Amino acid sequence: MSVLASNVRPISGVGIGLRSQHIHEILTTLPDLDWLELLADNHLAEGGQSVDQLDSISKHYPLTLHCVGMSLASVEPLDLEYCQRIKRLAKRVNASWISEHLCFSAALGVYSHDLLPIPYNKETLAHCVQRVQQIQEALGDRLLVENVSSYMTFKNSDMSEISFISALAEQADCDLLIDVNNIYVNQLNHGLDGKAYIDHLPVERVREIHLAGYQQQENFVLDAHNNPVSEPVWALYQRLIERQPNIPTLIEWDNDIPPLQVLLDEVKKARQIIQRVKEAQA
Ligand SMILES: [Fe+2]
Repeated sequence: MSVLASNVRPISGVGIGLRSQHIHEILTTLPDLDWLELLADNHLAEGGQSVDQLDSISKHYPLTLHCVGMSLASVEPLDLEYCQRIKRLAKRVNASWISEHLCFSAALGVYSHDLLPIPYNKETLAHCVQRVQQIQEALGDRLLVENVSSYMTFKNSDMSEISFISALAEQADCDLLIDVNNIYVNQLNHGLDGKAYIDHLPVERVREIHLAGYQQQENFVLDAHNNPVSEPVWALYQRLIERQPNIPTLIEWDNDIPPLQVLLDEVKKARQIIQRVKEAQA
């Protein structure tokens, strides 16, 4: 249970990432969604219409916060003021947890809007363990760390991504957000074995799953979040759900935002897979 607020609501089932295009429709129709995830960085203003809307949304749906600004793996000093702003937002909307990506986005005073990958070795592991601990201390809560898509690898990586992320969770005592599409993008881009990745995950630390769509480019696959979830990603998702059917799942769609009904159809598909798996295991 989160210590961010005394009455946070438990998260279960399937939700969607809340995008501004859908807020009015969600507030007026209250669709059948188990929870919503906010892109925290879009909601850091502490007044105005968006704050009022969020307060209304949080009355109807349990919320979580998803961040892009911690620059978790960076060697720049941790932005404690940013962490405090995230913590205030989490308290205000009664967020059940906070997640961030295993990447860096700031170096030498330059801030990039990209989620930049890191080498997987003992040196970066020790650094990330210390950073996650520092972030958890600043937030006063456990952090969910998400695996990212990448378009390059490092010569000085000598650990697999799954070994790195498992060791990070264990040593920093944090939780994981597993993005199944990111696993599949890395499978296509780098030959990572997606099935083995799922099979070796420490599922007891996986508190959330992301599902999204990718886009084929000329020489690589882009984590574009502008498409329905692909069939191979649904298959990997089922493999993960077969290991632990109760992990909350989120549909992420960030570009070329479709009508809300398209996302609700994706939610239905995820629910059908969970139901099928539970029935098969009963
Ligand atoms: Fe994700």
